[in-house]
Amino acid sequence: MYTITDKKVLSPIDYFVEVEASHVARAWKPGQFVVLMAHEKGERIPMSVYRADDGKIGMFIRKLGKTSLQIFNEFNVGDSLWSVAGPLGTPIEVKKYGTVVFASDAVCGHAENYATLRQMKEAGNHTISIQSFKDEEDVYPEQFLAKSVADEHYITTSDGSVGIKGNYLDVIRDLIEQDKVDIIFAGGVLGTLAKLAELTRPYGIPTMTTVRQIMVDGTGMCGSCRILYDGQIKFACRDGPMFDAHKVDWEDVLKRETRFLEQEKLAKEMYLKKINESHGKEVV
Ligand SMILES: Cc1cc2nc3c(=O)[nH]c(=O)nc-3n(C[C@H](O)[C@H](O)[C@H](O)COP(=O)(O)OP(=O)(O)OC[C@H]3O[C@@H](n4cnc5c(N)ncnc54)[C@H](O)[C@@H]3O)c2cc1C
Ligand code: FES
Repeated sequence: MYTITDKKVLSPIDYFVEVEASHVARAWKPGQFVVLMAHEKGERIPMSVYRADDGKIGMFIRKLGKTSLQIFNEFNVGDSLWSVAGPLGTPIEVKKYGTVVFASDAVCGHAENYATLRQMKEAGNHTISIQSFKDEEDVYPEQFLAKSVADEHYITTSDGSVGIKGNYLDVIRDLIEQDKVDIIFAGGVLGTLAKLAELTRPYGIPTMTTVRQIMVDGTGMCGSCRILYDGQIKFACRDGPMFDAHKVDWEDVLKRETRFLEQEKLAKEMYLKKINESHGKEVV
């Protein structure tokens, strides 16, 4: 069983969960992800890995819809998740590049930011982390930021309440002007990743981004996560999820992201109605 060994609130919308999963912790490499199932009949949800140590994996989860809310509301330390499958996907290449930047502006990206730079630093790179949040309330506690694995660490907030006002694109523009970047990795909001691809393209700076797609099996069998990449069909779960941003057809990726919004909204409403009725109060 996949026993929860730690759980903490990171911000009003994100939380941290650590689970015993020795088979994943042993084999996981940066760039790879897992697929969780809370219950035997629950849906399969892909998650990035923040840490994989001592037979346990840590994840950052955003309270978005039915399953992420269910794990937050109904699973505590000592409880077990039904399944943690993985590691899945193709690892990124960890080697000496020079100066490696990781930029993130959402939950999965923040996990990947720490996980990737930790190993890039060990490989002898100069590491720069940029983490973007909406405002002060959204900024994670210091122990969960990528500060400890970064030689330089920047926080941006949309309202300027912490760090630099703006988002990671503003910091990357400055780093490019200072000629400080050998390779950029990034994860988070797909729209920002599409903009990052356009920002770095004219400079020819290698740019690797996590292309999140709706995944079902996570092993290349169902076709749900297909993307157009360099004129070919690729599966984000098997061939990625990290891809060269300059070869991704972002228009297609952004269109596919919202395929199931109606169904997701309905599942969330039904779950909240059920849980609020059973608790006799508003839970979320
Ligand atoms: C490779 C990868 C890594 C991810 N890493 C993280 C992470 O570290 N932390 C995190 O909070 N989220 C991560 N996600 C997104 C996460 O899988 C969804 O937030 C989760 O499935 C939401 O489920 P839900 O029932 O709570 O919400 P729903 O209401 O079902 O969905 C909310 C939104 O989540 C996304 N989503 C839903 N189902 C899936 C699915 N089967 N596959 C992919 N995306 C889906 C869609 O954008 C959807 O609009 C990752 C997704 C991928 C593909
Ligand atoms: S999730 Fe089924 S092919 Fe990728």
